Amino acid sequence: MINYKLLKQEFLLDPEITYLNFGSFGACPNLIFEEYQRLQKELEKEPVQFITRVGMKLLADSRKSLAEYTHCEMDDIVYVMNPSYAVNIVAKSFNLKEGDEILATNIEYGACDRAWDYYCKKVGAKYIRQKINLPLNSKQEIVKDLFLGCNEKTRLVFISHITSSTGLKLPAKEICQEAHRRGIMCFIDGAHVPGQIPLNLQDLDADFYTGACHKWMMTPKGSSFLFVKKDYQSMCEPLIVSWGYEALFPSESLFQDWHTIQGSRDFSAFLTIPKSIQFMQDNQWDKVAARNRSLVQSNAVRFLNLLEAEPICPISDEYLAQMFSIPIKAKEPENFYNHLFNNYKIEIPVMRQDDKLYLRYSIQAFNDQNDLDRLYEVLSIEKKSGTFII
Ligand SMILES: Cc1ncc(COP(=O)(O)O)c(C=O)c1O
Repeated sequence: MINYKLLKQEFLLDPEITYLNFGSFGACPNLIFEEYQRLQKELEKEPVQFITRVGMKLLADSRKSLAEYTHCEMDDIVYVMNPSYAVNIVAKSFNLKEGDEILATNIEYGACDRAWDYYCKKVGAKYIRQKINLPLNSKQEIVKDLFLGCNEKTRLVFISHITSSTGLKLPAKEICQEAHRRGIMCFIDGAHVPGQIPLNLQDLDADFYTGACHKWMMTPKGSSFLFVKKDYQSMCEPLIVSWGYEALFPSESLFQDWHTIQGSRDFSAFLTIPKSIQFMQDNQWDKVAARNRSLVQSNAVRFLNLLEAEPICPISDEYLAQMFSIPIKAKEPENFYNHLFNNYKIEIPVMRQDDKLYLRYSIQAFNDQNDLDRLYEVLSIEKKSGTFII
């Protein structure tokens, strides 16, 4: 039996807050955060030894654990601070030319849209935000919608494995297959994936993949990774050129040297990843995730009814994991968010996606039915008052 009360106590979150936004920045259990602080203290005991020797060995051990967990070779992943960083490495290195196109969906994460737009505009290339029709109906239709935006100028397909404001699981494997069938490379933004749904990088066959460990793997902030297939590793130049470039004592992997040795920095957050994997195993995280998905789905219809909204996908494991986005018609969404937090102590994002708004709840081990009941009660009051909800 999983003791959810005990698990809840593990998290450092303020118990006064109804926390329904795990998706944005994760949250750290005590055990993992203590490991982080232990490592930082180790570092401060002997900074030279830690940063140049002991820590480097721990970093390799950590990559080995993460590689096993995500099913890839340990030298094919490098640690980066966040997915934006990973996208910038690839976009900056991609040698885009005037007229080239990057094909994405219209439901990507805003920061990644901006990164691609920036590098495309610099050289006269185009970042295409291809419309995916909502509600989602089938994997085939999603693939079809996306590839309507593909042509002979398309150099890369870039999509989220789980989208941000809409919280949708996209058919990443099928999209990679179709891109490859057309001879195009594929980059998957899996910021929300590790720790939320199983990830098998070998089976997925993406050419580039980024994941955030500090979200659903619950590690401290600033711990993410970039996976690159061997053939493209030499193409991925370091964003920060430092001692790892033309290293005095190169390792067997230029990819590792370039992206690991990036000047003086605290890389302790990366070192907590084995602890997080252990934590998830010890606490039967596959069962916890299934219970969370079930809470997400069993509450979906009543929120849709309350907000008089249509679902943006079938309510099933095929499209949903531990987040659910309800289309909402609201005035002043930023003020509405502040109002929910300041007046009711509910942390939940009101997210913009072009001209649409979504209220997205995330469910983690520390959440239970009471949290969603509280949200329902508050939304009912707000709907009646009409101040924010139209
Ligand atoms: C799809 C997606 N990509 C990337 C990110 C995170 O990127 P960053 O931490 O670099 O802002 C998020 C965060 O919510 C996301 O939802």
